[in-house]
Amino acid sequence: MNSSLAELFGRISQGVYVVGVAAGERRNAFTAAWVMQTSFDPPMVALSINPAHSSFQLLEQGRNFTVNVLADDQLGLAAHFGKPASADKLAGQAWRPAPGGAPILRDALAWLDCRLDAVVNSGDHRLVTGVATGGSIQRPDSQPLLYRDTGALDGSAALYPAAFPAP
Ligand SMILES: Cc1cc2nc3c(=O)[nH]c(=O)nc-3n(C[C@H](O)[C@H](O)[C@H](O)COP(=O)(O)O)c2cc1C
Repeated sequence: MNSSLAELFGRISQGVYVVGVAAGERRNAFTAAWVMQTSFDPPMVALSINPAHSSFQLLEQGRNFTVNVLADDQLGLAAHFGKPASADKLAGQAWRPAPGGAPILRDALAWLDCRLDAVVNSGDHRLVTGVATGGSIQRPDSQPLLYRDTGALDGSAALYPAAFPAP
């Protein structure tokens, strides 16, 4: 078997989310596939973010984030928020601030409002855990967008090394 690392890791099932961040009046949002639940009580989630993203600074400063779950008809939103924040990505989008301040997308399938708990180094990313302090299902009859259905949208195949590191 001769699978590339991108093909192999693509077999790990993931959804697609728009993570909202806020620090004071500054807000941003970015598309993320690396999101998972990590605790029942308190309800907690973790996400993995590249510290070079402009969203990371706002996340560290504001210590709040939202997780907007995208539906299977929202590939366009995944592409929009997957772009770097050279312009205001929230301009022209329908959103409102969560109690913690980070953006909730009006048309997301569901959302969680989270208080940052910990930031841990994880290779070229940072693993961020958060306690969910609120949330809602907005489109109960919709199905979530799956990462495997986004194709090469994130261009991530080029980011893997050619081979595993030595054990
Ligand atoms: C489908 C998809 C999934 C992505 N998943 C992640 C992720 O889990 N973590 C991450 O740091 N970036 C992820 N990205 C990349 C960011 O969305 C992208 O780099 C974005 O420009 C960062 O936004 P910012 O510069 O406004 O912070 C993903 C992009 C796409 C299109």
